[in-house]
Amino acid sequence: MEGLDLVLKKLEAFTAADFEGYNTERLKMLASARKLVSRLQSNGEKAYEIAYQQSLVDSALRVCLDIGLWHGWTAAGGGEKQVEELVGLTTKTCELNLLRRLLRLLGAANIIEETGEDRYKPTQFSLSIGDDSTCMAQAIVSKTDHWDLSHMNLPSFLAKTSYREPKDAKNTSYIDANPERLPIFDRFLTKKSYRDSLRGFLFEYSKYRVPWPEFYDTASLIEGADLSSGSPLIVDVGGLHGADLLKLLDKHPNLPAGSLVLQDLAGAISGLTLNTDKIKLMEYNFFKPEPLHGSRAYFLHMVLHDWPDELVTRILQNLKPALKKGYSKILICEIVMPRTGASMYQASLDVALMANLSAYERTEAEWKKVINDAGLEMISVTMDPRGFEGVIEVELA
Ligand SMILES: C[S@@+](CC[C@H](N)C(=O)[O-])C[C@H]1O[C@@H](n2cnc3c(N)ncnc32)[C@H](O)[C@@H]1O
Repeated sequence: MEGLDLVLKKLEAFTAADFEGYNTERLKMLASARKLVSRLQSNGEKAYEIAYQQSLVDSALRVCLDIGLWHGWTAAGGGEKQVEELVGLTTKTCELNLLRRLLRLLGAANIIEETGEDRYKPTQFSLSIGDDSTCMAQAIVSKTDHWDLSHMNLPSFLAKTSYREPKDAKNTSYIDANPERLPIFDRFLTKKSYRDSLRGFLFEYSKYRVPWPEFYDTASLIEGADLSSGSPLIVDVGGLHGADLLKLLDKHPNLPAGSLVLQDLAGAISGLTLNTDKIKLMEYNFFKPEPLHGSRAYFLHMVLHDWPDELVTRILQNLKPALKKGYSKILICEIVMPRTGASMYQASLDVALMANLSAYERTEAEWKKVINDAGLEMISVTMDPRGFEGVIEVELA
């Protein structure tokens, strides 16, 4: 085909670095590249990828994690290596030819880069798996600890429920599939490894989102605050890993010590270290009344979307008595589902909620309804520049 080489050369030259500071444009390019792949693939190629290839790549990636290759390679400073050198970096004995076959697949899947015969270079992604200052390894383990169970069970779960839309938090594909038959937020507290993998997954996932202080006017929130009574500035309810408060501190480093509070279930935050005296950790169950009154804001990120409508109303009602009229706000940071053109981020999270929690991502009208049902008022919605998530300001009616 005439000119093809030129087109390929141009396409292959693009990297994420070309979009530095242009995240929205990078995501547009990514969405367009995905559409291109889908247009170019034959039906057979698509079916083979869905039915076969993806799970094999996932397994090869996980085996390399289990034998310590990713950690060994990152600790060795990365770099291009022969398979013979790579097998020497593992912490478990692994036959050379076994590793060779797994690496060949991971090279074909662009998880690592093949640079010659039996020779590979790590990618930013593979290096991050072996770097424990990220939570990437935990995020990968969350697949088998949590998601595979309920996502793969969804077809039989929905068949059992005669294809009714799941609405009951006590009857989910996740509960139906796991051996303990527990809801996710109970089960993840039964074993440290379950807790760490879920927390790690959600921490890495938080990097997928535009940091809320980048699109919401946090300066006005802080300017209007009165901390003289000892009430906190912001309480992050269900804050788990603290990423949202840390992002706020990046923008406003001079906030007073202890002015930010991270609340979550005791088991969820135990062992968490945030390396700052600005954030206090506090055990709290949001199905009980909020104990901290008169905070400038109660922030909930990806928390309410985990629950069906009547439980969202209950959580909001438990916050209501803590609000000071004309001063306090509830800030709900969530996907606001568009009526058309939902991104993969939005649509996949919606179906993940269906499987894991019998919950759903709401449109603006659906958010307004649950807020009004709790006797509160929706004041404004500020969307991130990609239009994926918004901060919904809520006040006493
Ligand atoms: C999807 S995670 C969101 C975590 C974090 N805000 C984020 O945006 O990544 C939901 C959080 O709600 C917490 N949670 C679940 N049930 C809770 C309860 N009854 N009381 C307080 N927190 C709860 C979980 O422990 C978890 O941290």
